[in-house]
Amino acid sequence: MERELSLEFLRVVEQAAIAAAHTMGYGDRHAADKAAAECMRRELGEVPIHGRIVIGEGERDKAPMLYIGEQVGRGDSYPRVDIAVDPLEGTNLCATGAPNALAVIAASEEGGLLHSPDIYMEKLVVGPSCKAAVELDAPVKDNLKAIAKRLERDVEDLVVVVLDRPRHEQLIKDIRAAGARIRLISDGDVAPAIAAAVIGAGVHAVMGVGGAPEGVLAAAALRCLNGEMQARLVAFQPEHEERMRKMGIRDPKRIYTERDLAPGKRIVFACAGVTSGDLLRGVRFFGEGARTHSLVMTLDPYTVRFVDAVHLEWRADVKVRFS
Ligand code: FBP
Repeated sequence: MERELSLEFLRVVEQAAIAAAHTMGYGDRHAADKAAAECMRRELGEVPIHGRIVIGEGERDKAPMLYIGEQVGRGDSYPRVDIAVDPLEGTNLCATGAPNALAVIAASEEGGLLHSPDIYMEKLVVGPSCKAAVELDAPVKDNLKAIAKRLERDVEDLVVVVLDRPRHEQLIKDIRAAGARIRLISDGDVAPAIAAAVIGAGVHAVMGVGGAPEGVLAAAALRCLNGEMQARLVAFQPEHEERMRKMGIRDPKRIYTERDLAPGKRIVFACAGVTSGDLLRGVRFFGEGARTHSLVMTLDPYTVRFVDAVHLEWRADVKVRFS
């Protein structure tokens, strides 16, 4: 499945990123999200799968498209595939032209991605060198010491990415007290989670509470990059607990690993930069078309591809530039 579908999903995220990028900086996050979602849904219709959305734009009554349970792809005669999408991860980032907005998709055999409720999730993400060195419930300073030791550097040399939210006031104090440096982000915790698992990307951990659907997408990427994630669903309101029950979550306090969140044996993960960020450049438009920068990964075989693509509109004088 992975080999054939990775190029298909690459095309899907490239086109969604281009659609979103047309709205970049216009200050309208809903228009940006709508453009990306409509395009992603259209492109998914061409993919030779019998797909089922398990993480999408929301529940059926709230989302007009790419809702949980929606069938996508060419239909019944093709392989059954579970799909997690975030057509525009970081709607505000795109609306304001800020870094790290992505178009994202993950796919697996049926049952290979957790059907997570659209609530919050506490997350701790580290790269392959720090596997089994950290614990979600350990004091922040202990985790930072363990990460620094594994990365053979001082705690002061670490960069931890945290969403800039009032709920993280204590976490931020604890990270600073331990001496590590922090990059506060306004939105978009999927891109830094991927970066944390890539040596040289300048991110050593992601900590704090973000969206649970984004957690499943990040987990699929981390499976392909041999990174580690520990996570726990967070119910800020009684309604969140009800949603957990509805989705069959029996133990609300359970700590999930990346393998629990994305247990699939055959995972494909693809994302394309909408705006430039840690690992990917954003979409660049020029006279004859657009240039995209994407990441496509498969679990079996373990392949990580960074794809720089030029999308041209045919014209008699069309030209391709090297840089
Ligand atoms: P969008 O849904 O607007 O794209 O926002 C994405 C995001 O920033 C995620 O990356 C993050 O996990 C979550 O929202 C944080 O949620 P909140 O903004 O409610 O703190």
